Amino acid sequence: MAKSTTRFFCTDCGHEELRWLGRCPGCGQWNTFKEMKLAPEGGKKGSRGFGSRSGKEREAGAPGFAGNRRGPGGVLEAVPLAEIGSAEHERLPVAPTEVARVLGGGLVAGSVVLLGGEPGVGKSTLLTGLALWWAAQGVRVLYVAGEESPTQIRMRAERLGFAADRSPGFSILPEVHLETLLSALDRECQSLETSTEGDAPGAGKCIVIVDSIQTLHSEHIDAFPGSPTQIKYCGGVMADFARRTGFPVFLVGHVTKSGDLAGPKLLEHMVDTVLYFEGSDGGPIRMVRAVKNRFGNTGELAVLEMRGDGLVPVDQAGVLFLSGRRGNEPGAAVCAIRNGSRTFLVEIQALVSPSRYGTPQRVVQGVDSKRVALLAAILEKRAGMDLAGCDIFVKVAGGGRIDDPAADLAIMAALASSLRERPVPASTLVLGEAGLTGEVRRVTDLDARLLEAGRHGFARVVMAPAAGKSKKRTQGLEIATCTSVEEGVALALEPAANRALGGC
Ligand code: TYD
Ligand code: MG
Repeated sequence: MAKSTTRFFCTDCGHEELRWLGRCPGCGQWNTFKEMKLAPEGGKKGSRGFGSRSGKEREAGAPGFAGNRRGPGGVLEAVPLAEIGSAEHERLPVAPTEVARVLGGGLVAGSVVLLGGEPGVGKSTLLTGLALWWAAQGVRVLYVAGEESPTQIRMRAERLGFAADRSPGFSILPEVHLETLLSALDRECQSLETSTEGDAPGAGKCIVIVDSIQTLHSEHIDAFPGSPTQIKYCGGVMADFARRTGFPVFLVGHVTKSGDLAGPKLLEHMVDTVLYFEGSDGGPIRMVRAVKNRFGNTGELAVLEMRGDGLVPVDQAGVLFLSGRRGNEPGAAVCAIRNGSRTFLVEIQALVSPSRYGTPQRVVQGVDSKRVALLAAILEKRAGMDLAGCDIFVKVAGGGRIDDPAADLAIMAALASSLRERPVPASTLVLGEAGLTGEVRRVTDLDARLLEAGRHGFARVVMAPAAGKSKKRTQGLEIATCTSVEEGVALALEPAANRALGGC
């Protein structure tokens, strides 16, 4: 007889243990372990859990398992890589291209995409917009609605331009019970296979959108919907469905405002693509970032604007963060940062003032605070600037977030500019990674950064000497090279009028 098993799970991070522990070794939280009964081995009769494909399905080699070959007696055989077909041609087009880029150019058959983000950031809006576009191409879209009623989804779709005659293949499945949902999805798949395929490019294709994974629950798991065990199990079963049928599945996962990533984080290893939705400073700009992509580049970014009629790509995203810039003010420096295959010009602002209280403040927004502390220490030690008794405030203008080390020198130039009350000229771009010994290092993708700077009217770039010479990339730009941060900061603060007199 099948045996049921008991395990203990951390309700915060989903860490699994055989016995109860007071403190979770995974996340360090106290008193978060809960006992949960796991499904009996093999699950209930008729269940469609992990690896629950029937022998018949296995033999048939359903899409997504094309490499699964069995020899005499049903024993699994290894298949040479050369005999396995590439799925590259099976990418389903995605519009707009801004979103297609973060998905690696299109949607791969049988892939699972996790879309995480805070509640209200626009996950449902983005997926409804994509669903409407696919439905208009003849693709069948099944929207599993666990959070909203079908009427609410219809209202949102109408806001996004839904017309019944253009999207006949857009259907809603209002279901949160996993087993019922799977039966319904399997039935839909069968009806799709038996229906005669039309001429439309999307005919015979189906996309499943689960909004959200936190609302799904399985009868095999003794835990509340939204708990780590339910999320893990339901996510795994939906991933199994995608690979079994070859139909792409989107899973929406909420990330709480307190930064608690428990739910979606648990799924990251079992999905193919993880997209995170970021809002910027409560404004209308939204960014969708690919933090994992088995079928494309990670770090890719889509910049969208939330309007009254949905999310639309932003024109001139490269200079989005420069809008409202005042120019020749002390305490600001512009650098070109890379996000995936894109370049953005961002202004880093700094305010350095003598501290009025005992412990100087360090307040940072949009950059890692430890990185700013490190750069301030380099400025003190290597460029002789006295910052120890000063309050330091650093911010990325426009609400962006920077992880690119190429912004180091610009952060230092902004700090020095505020300390010395001397502006970095508006047409100067500052590029470079700083080292602890005070050296300025070369940045990656220099050509793309210089191209973006030239395109948006920058005339001078302060940076480390580039490897090799390229006339093309420096065309129209004055390059001021530096090897130390002291030199780099001095060049950045050099007034435009003095340039003819010397420098580099
Ligand atoms: P929603 O997609 O429901 O967020 P999520 O699924 O991530 O929780 O978006 C919610 C917000 O977006 C809501 O405040 C209304 C706003 N919105 C617009 O501004 N324009 C639109 O066209 C739509 C559909 C929503
Ligand atoms: Mg939603």
